[in-house]
Amino acid sequence: MAEKFMEWDDRLSMGIPLIDKQHQRLIEITNNLYEACRQGGSLYTSFVTALRETVDYVGFHFGTEEKIMRRINYPDYALHKREHEAFVKEVLKQKLAYENDKAYAPHAMVRYLRDWTLSHIALTDLKLGAYLLNMKKTGALENVLEKFIDDKSQTL
Ligand SMILES: [Fe+2]
Repeated sequence: MAEKFMEWDDRLSMGIPLIDKQHQRLIEITNNLYEACRQGGSLYTSFVTALRETVDYVGFHFGTEEKIMRRINYPDYALHKREHEAFVKEVLKQKLAYENDKAYAPHAMVRYLRDWTLSHIALTDLKLGAYLLNMKKTGALENVLEKFIDDKSQTL
């Protein structure tokens, strides 16, 4: 098996099982998209399917993070959400460009997805993770939310 396009790294771990699991899934989906992209040519339909899966999963995942942030009145909520929105807007723009012009190289899109995801996790999500862990440590996290974020099966 060839080297993975994107690889999970423990340094990306927020220490929040639910979100870590979703990030791992996101990496898996990006790898699928990359594979579909590599097949290219006559197999563009698999790229379209993988792309749809990516867009859906990104929406679901951002929804989870935003739900948690609202629930804890996260001070950086607006900023974090704006990053999500800018990303979704860019991906949809690239998706449209691809749909309108089959010659458009999807490789650029997959690389954008990978680079954005890695830097967003490393900078923005890890900040949220630290905030959540601190709430947990000080007993400031409501029980039901603690159970929710500790339950990685919620993702599947
Ligand atoms: Fe995020």
